[in-house]
Amino acid sequence: MLTLWVKSLNLLTRLKFANGERMKKTVNVAVLVSGGGTNLQAIIDFTAAGNLESGKVVKVISNKQDAYALQRAQNAEIETAVVIKKGKTQQEFEQGLIAELEACNAEVIVLAGFMCILSKDFTDRYKDRIINVHPSLIPSFCGEGFYGLKVHEAALAKGVKVTGATVHFVNEIPDGGKIIMQKAVKVKEKDTPETLQKRVMQEAEWKILPASLELVCKNILKGEIK
Ligand code: GAR
Repeated sequence: MLTLWVKSLNLLTRLKFANGERMKKTVNVAVLVSGGGTNLQAIIDFTAAGNLESGKVVKVISNKQDAYALQRAQNAEIETAVVIKKGKTQQEFEQGLIAELEACNAEVIVLAGFMCILSKDFTDRYKDRIINVHPSLIPSFCGEGFYGLKVHEAALAKGVKVTGATVHFVNEIPDGGKIIMQKAVKVKEKDTPETLQKRVMQEAEWKILPASLELVCKNILKGEIK
């Protein structure tokens, strides 16, 4: 009974009026993926734990038909779509993405292991609405050619003692947009690219990506991001 009362009170608080207008409750989020989707899973788990208060994942879009991330989305009963790049111009590919994003009224786009470069036209269209997770402490080991395991290979080759992950807004410069959150991870002497990748995911990416998503959605609802 008490729980029910507290829940109703929470709901009422979240629907409170601002400047005479009813505040929108959640922001529609689309997640773009290409592979295994462990970062998508982190967002799904964060949502299931009741922590994504300001956003709702409404669609997962993959550029690869066989991405395991699609299975993760289906398991969580999230709508999926596939937009293939092969045989299309960049503009045609992005028109396909835009059609899927508009069909679900996406307001925020998360790049969660999405291995495609997006044009300036696309990033301008969704200015301050696209976030990306990158597996290093930007500005180290980032930009064109630095993705997935290659990032960790470069970090180990350089001999850095600390690496980590970054979540940032996406603009036309690969990994060049404003930083939202970063988390450092220690490199161990016996690390291989694979062990380092796993630890950076567990200790950094899976934490800061969902937390950044909640922050961005909350700021959109508050009108702090236009
Ligand atoms: C993650 O490590 C992500 O940071 C990286 O790809 C992996 C995707 O894993 N992204 C990039 O390198 C982008 N530059 P996931 O599919 O299991 O989330």
